[in-house]
This record gives sequence, C-alpha cells and structure tokens, in this order.
Amino acid sequence: MKIDVLTLFPDMFSGILAESILKRAQENKKAQINIYDLRDWTHDTRRTVDDKPYGGGPGMVIKPEPVFEACDDLCKENTKVILLTPQGKKYNQKLALKTSKYKHVVLICGHYEGFDERVRTLADVEISIGDYVLTGGEIPAMVLIDTVVRLIPGVLGEECSLQDESFNDDMLEYPQYTRPQNYRKMSVPEILLSGDHEKIKRWRKKQSLKRTKERRKDLLK
Ligand code: ADE
Repeated sequence: MKIDVLTLFPDMFSGILAESILKRAQENKKAQINIYDLRDWTHDTRRTVDDKPYGGGPGMVIKPEPVFEACDDLCKENTKVILLTPQGKKYNQKLALKTSKYKHVVLICGHYEGFDERVRTLADVEISIGDYVLTGGEIPAMVLIDTVVRLIPGVLGEECSLQDESFNDDMLEYPQYTRPQNYRKMSVPEILLSGDHEKIKRWRKKQSLKRTKERRKDLLK
C-alpha cells in the first residue's frame, strides 16, 4: 500500500514513522509512506499556501492551487483522496479496515481555519477522528496511518491476532494477564491456568461481552 501525505508540517511525521511497527512495515515494503510539503506546489518566493477568508473573519484559509496541483501530480486512477477534517465521517475500526484495502491513498491535512471549500471536490472521503478540534489534520493523519498499516496483511506477526482485539465484531477485547500469577493481592483467574482451551475460549467470549455491556453498550446491536 502506498500512502502519500500532503502537509504544511512534514517534520511532525518523522517520529512515528521511524519507530516500531510503522518502521518495520516500511522496511518490509508492506507500506510505502511519503510525506510531502504542500509548499513545494507554490510558485512565489514566499511559498504562500494561505490567504485571508473572503467575507472577512479571523484566521487564514489554505488556498486551492497548491492542493489541486499536488493532487494533479500524485493522484492516479486508483487513488483514494482522503481529507482530514472535523466535518468528516467519524473514523472507526470498520473504516480503518476498508481503507487498508486501498492500493494508494493521498491524505490531505488541513491547518489554520481550514481549506478553501473547493478543495473538498478533490476528496473521495472526508474523515474526522472524533468530535473535537485539533490544530490540524496531521495528528488525525497519523492516527489513520497507524490504524491502517497494522491491518495490512503481513505487517503484524503471525502470532499476533487481529481476530481477538477490541472492536472486532463490535466487541471490546477480553482481559489479558501475564506473569506473575499473584501480584499485590491480585491473582490471575484460575481458568487461564487450567490448560483447557475450549473453556478459556468460552470464558474470554463471556468476558468480552460483559466488558462491552459495562463500558460500551452503544456497540451492542
Ligand atoms: N482537523 C482538526 N480536527 C480534526 C478532527 N477531529 N479530525 C480530523 N481532522 C481534524
């Protein structure tokens, strides 16, 4: 999968792309992630990307030209263009899974007071990571990259199960334990020590349901 990011702050991405699973996914050629500076598609010496809003008001608005020209250069026939904006469709695990199946995505990160409205016509989908406003689309783009790349087949090791994790089947994950068996008067449930895999499977399913009922009733249909 190829992910191209258009941003005014390319350096924000260097940390997360150079560590852990995202680093390995790139090394193993499962994901190619390119960060592009939107200013590279400007034509004036000051590399201007924003301007005052028509009609007045505070802040600056990202101009359409650099975004359109960047898309002209980066987008191919099979490209999905994703705009990160608080006005977008609310992101969740299902949308992450759908996105992970695309061959090529271009992520457009807004900043300041947002984009010129005409930029919206470039987008196949607008995504919001939640009902709150961040200073820009960079952190939402990182959230999207992180959630999507780990779902690409072969990125997580064989032993790492995507099947059991939270939000699969709209359920939260069951509780997990590791050694020591007893710690500060808290002990590991006996059943997990039983070696009876069928029983453990049933227990985990029950715990998963209990936890979802307690914490996220909205997920249960
Ligand atoms: N840009 C600012 N806030 C955002 C949000 N919640 N989701 C996506 N992009 C954003």
